[in-house]
Amino acid sequence: MDENEARIREDRKALRQLLSQSESARSELLSKTSSLESKTHRIESFKKEALEILQDLKNQRQQLESAYGKLTELENMKDEFISITTHELKTPLTPIKLQTQMWLSGLYGPLDERQQKSMKIMLRNTERLLHLIDDLMTLAKLNAHKLKFEFQDLDINQLITDVVTDMKEQAEEKNIYLKYEVSEKPLLIHADPQRIMQVIVDLTNNAIKFTDEGGVTIKAKQQRGYVIISVQDTGIGLPQNDLDNIFKRFYQSDHGITRTRGGSGLGLAIVKSILTRHGSRIWVESKKGRGTTFYFSFPKIHGG
Ligand SMILES: Nc1ncnc2c1ncn2[C@@H]1O[C@H](COP(=O)(O)OP(=O)(O)O)[C@@H](O)[C@H]1O
Ligand SMILES: [Mg+2]
Repeated sequence: MDENEARIREDRKALRQLLSQSESARSELLSKTSSLESKTHRIESFKKEALEILQDLKNQRQQLESAYGKLTELENMKDEFISITTHELKTPLTPIKLQTQMWLSGLYGPLDERQQKSMKIMLRNTERLLHLIDDLMTLAKLNAHKLKFEFQDLDINQLITDVVTDMKEQAEEKNIYLKYEVSEKPLLIHADPQRIMQVIVDLTNNAIKFTDEGGVTIKAKQQRGYVIISVQDTGIGLPQNDLDNIFKRFYQSDHGITRTRGGSGLGLAIVKSILTRHGSRIWVESKKGRGTTFYFSFPKIHGG
């Protein structure tokens, strides 16, 4: 074998090696391309799925929006219904009350004892109905944000003093005390005086209603930057499991003596709603047989 032949062999060998390398590179490229293709395919199918989910979400949102619209419409209809029916109910009740009062005053001639008793029952129940209708009206207006609030800086101490003066007789009739504990200096909060008066009157009414011994104390005190107002009684108290429920509409604890003290169960719902509109919080502490205290708080106004 001459030198040339040997070189040609070497070259052939190198060429074969090169060919086999390029073959394996090609097959590697092919496999990579196919894996890339399958990945692209998967991405495409993910994309399709994502688009479907997005469309689904859009549909659901549309459904929710339309349901919300219907709910708002129903809510408005309900408020309107309450507003119309309460008005229609109140219209005939007002002359019934007036006529009963006229009979009782002796305007239509003297009444014997039985007739007087009967008229008094009529008057009491008419007043209860009127009260319930007023409460329903107030609550519907509060829900619909149709009750106007007139905020101003007011002296809560003066307001409490006025409530106690106005309601003292009511407590005396039950042989219990009604007193206040407030500082002589004015204590200012930013609120609607009429509505806050209503809150304190409602809480005091309850306190008197559910207290047979001892009495009721209304307090206002400063605590850090807040004014805490409390209505405390030494009455029948509430079982622990009622404390979360008493602010709900129509809820009345049966106190083991099912509903003998009258009322509609709307008072505290109104109180809570009024205070919520003020940004104020109400809470209650009570022990069965030991008495109840309702608290609500307001930020203190400087200078007060
Ligand atoms: N001071 C209180 N002591 C004991 N129970 C109370 C007191 N205040 C409220 N409650 C309970 O909470 C319920 C709801 O009160 P409220 O909404 O004012 O309704 P109402 O006075 O018309 O019954 C009452 O029926 C009563 O069971
Ligand atoms: Mg009440």
